[in-house]
Amino acid sequence: MINLANLAREHALHHDEIEAAALRVLRSGTYILGPEVEAFQREFADYCGARAAVGVSNGSDAIVVALQALGVGPGDEVITTAFSYFATASAVVRAGATPVFADIDLATFNLDPADVEHRVTPRTKAILAVHLFGRAADTDRLGALAAKHNLALVEDVAQAAGAERHGRRTGTLGTVATFSFFPAKPLGCDGDGGACVTHDPVLADLMAKVRVTGATAKNVHDLPGGNYRLAPLQAAILRAKLPHYEGRIAKRRANAEALRQGLRGVSERLVLPADDADGRHVYAQFTVRHPQRDALSAALKKHGVGSEVYYPVPMPSQKVLAHLGHAPGEFANTERACAEVLSIPVHSELGDSEVVHVVEAMRAALAEVDQG
Ligand SMILES: Cc1ncc(COP(=O)(O)O)c(C=O)c1O
Repeated sequence: MINLANLAREHALHHDEIEAAALRVLRSGTYILGPEVEAFQREFADYCGARAAVGVSNGSDAIVVALQALGVGPGDEVITTAFSYFATASAVVRAGATPVFADIDLATFNLDPADVEHRVTPRTKAILAVHLFGRAADTDRLGALAAKHNLALVEDVAQAAGAERHGRRTGTLGTVATFSFFPAKPLGCDGDGGACVTHDPVLADLMAKVRVTGATAKNVHDLPGGNYRLAPLQAAILRAKLPHYEGRIAKRRANAEALRQGLRGVSERLVLPADDADGRHVYAQFTVRHPQRDALSAALKKHGVGSEVYYPVPMPSQKVLAHLGHAPGEFANTERACAEVLSIPVHSELGDSEVVHVVEAMRAALAEVDQG
């Protein structure tokens, strides 16, 4: 079975370097923050082309840390996409603010800036843009909107480390950016991990304080915060993996191109991911649309290829947000995406023959579903 990730194979590629890094931490006697975290912060900020990075516990907490450092809290609104992993919305709630949802552009699955503008109120403090599936959102228009209304633009880069828009990397496209290093992400560690990245040294300093229970000095807590620290073990593993990341992005992109070539024109009912003329898509997922995606997924499984639905439910429709009172039909593009999306294997550890297998399985599955 070819699945959406093969983490053991990914580890095997550079196991010597990763295991040496882990051993270095285990023998160091420093198990909270310290030099490995500091070194990773410098190296990752350099990789993004930003001034500062703050290593944090995971990509969900990274959003909370960024919002709290920006001073976003109770009474404030944060405009975000209706179509993302639920951590995006729940982080806004955890920061004490209210998520205000906007619809997506169906071609890119990212926030529709025109719909964002309709949702701005005097209480809006930030726009939280997700670079979904590895494609950078339209931060040109979102940045202009943020500037016009004096809002922060927060990038949720959980799925898009290394992605670019007009030659600029994610992490530098807004006020502050949040990353996840969950193992199955394009750049993953071997547990939970995350980072906040910014050009603004004052914000970086505030985020470092929010990360340690909002402490501005020993036993002095002037800021909201929590235990949001990145473990040095994960920082060391990320340092071992970062130098290989560009090569892995190139392989993901080559796999995506092979899938695109192999599937173009095969079915009138299949919608392939849009070209990435605006920048560099890192293909955290290769996500297609098909009106019978559940049947397509079942047929693919029969042909030895795994697939996943990211995401079947619009975030505003989740029960925990029922008090916001959203009704079906309010986010038409998101609802259509939720009904039709299917992600198929594209990861960098796929061999060339496996990519060919995915294409053949898709062609066979589409023939079955389209004719049946
Ligand atoms: C868009 C998005 N935001 C936030 C997160 C949360 O990251 P983590 O799982 O590291 O908390 C994820 C992870 O799946 C994600 O995909």
